[in-house]
Amino acid sequence: MPTTCLVTGGAGFIGCALSKHLPEHFDRVIAIDNLHPQIHPTAQRPADLDSRVEFFLGDVTVAEDWDRLLAEVKPDTVIHLAAETGTGQSLTEATRHAKVNVVGTTEMLDALVRHDAIPKKIVLSSSRAVYGEGAWSDEDGTVTYPGQRSDAMLEAGQWDFEGLSATPFESSKVVPNPTSVYGSTKLAQENILRSWCLAMNVTPVLFRLQNVYGPGQSLSNPYTGIVSFFAQKAKALDVIPVYEDGEIIRDFVFIDDVARALVQGTLHSGANEHAYDIGSGEGTSILSLANLIAAHYGAPAPQINGKFRNGDVRSASCEIDAAEAALDWHPQVMVSEGVIRLCEWIDSGAPALAN
Ligand SMILES: NC(=O)c1ccc[n+]([C@@H]2O[C@H](COP(=O)([O-])OP(=O)(O)OC[C@H]3O[C@@H](n4cnc5c(N)ncnc54)[C@H](O)[C@@H]3O)[C@@H](O)[C@H]2O)c1
Repeated sequence: MPTTCLVTGGAGFIGCALSKHLPEHFDRVIAIDNLHPQIHPTAQRPADLDSRVEFFLGDVTVAEDWDRLLAEVKPDTVIHLAAETGTGQSLTEATRHAKVNVVGTTEMLDALVRHDAIPKKIVLSSSRAVYGEGAWSDEDGTVTYPGQRSDAMLEAGQWDFEGLSATPFESSKVVPNPTSVYGSTKLAQENILRSWCLAMNVTPVLFRLQNVYGPGQSLSNPYTGIVSFFAQKAKALDVIPVYEDGEIIRDFVFIDDVARALVQGTLHSGANEHAYDIGSGEGTSILSLANLIAAHYGAPAPQINGKFRNGDVRSASCEIDAAEAALDWHPQVMVSEGVIRLCEWIDSGAPALAN
């Protein structure tokens, strides 16, 4: 039997990276994508999308688009990437995020049923945003959930939760508690997919990705991608603005490492009770990221400006041991190397080709 893999949002950053691997494992790979103008300003099939992948222009929220596609395609495996991804933007455009991330997911599931095209497996790229601030511990090691930083707290420059230290996210231990509409929609996606899959005898494989970066990411989308934003600022020899006190922590995970983890999960994982946390395994402060990039370009020193963005969490990093063991996967590119590779890609002019 020929095998077919359908990738929603398959023309995006992660979809294009996956497109280089999937044709080695499936007879047919199809990407459905609406070429959203915020990510694809030229509305063209990206040059980065492997030529062996068939491209289908369609919107995951539109039932008729699913009908056109599934009349002809019966996927064994679905990798669900299509999403609105603006954390800050989701606060002012909540419906837009809920429509694509939640209703787009349910439209997909209904269409699979309507066309008698139930796949064997559905892989979801969820996000570390589902954790919100996650779990923090006090001096005695007692774990507590401090909840969301209030606007008043941030206005007063009180960035941390007093007397507490952040702990890394870990899906088997840390209870999700999103602090953004985006994070809430990703958690809804997880819950919808898991419950539907288990009822329909489909294997759900859930991933929670940290901050993905690297060559191929959109340089024109102002709402996502702090690494590419910093790189473009520094390349123009501008001062990189650094929010809060510079000590916001993120785990920056290189695109190739994410693609390999997703491929491993797609090919080899059974249903996972706890989502795979995918990161580099290393937390990096935003100030040290900015310093690294400024130094690469010989740009002026980054400036801490005390600004903040509602919905941003203070600290995000994760334990990757469980994913490493289950997927026989290890991140290979740490941030000091990956950032330089992104800068070199930007310098090479490749982005013009990518879109
Ligand atoms: N990049 C990250 O740092 C990161 C981190 C955590 C989770 N994720 C998740 O990974 C997935 C892919 O992210 P990405 O970085 O490749 O983002 P991306 O924006 O580059 O790709 C998303 C793709 O989805 C498409 N799309 C958007 N709305 C659509 C719709 N209604 N119908 C069809 N296609 C639509 C876009 O055109 C785009 O090509 C998303 O689900 C995102 O939530 C990404």
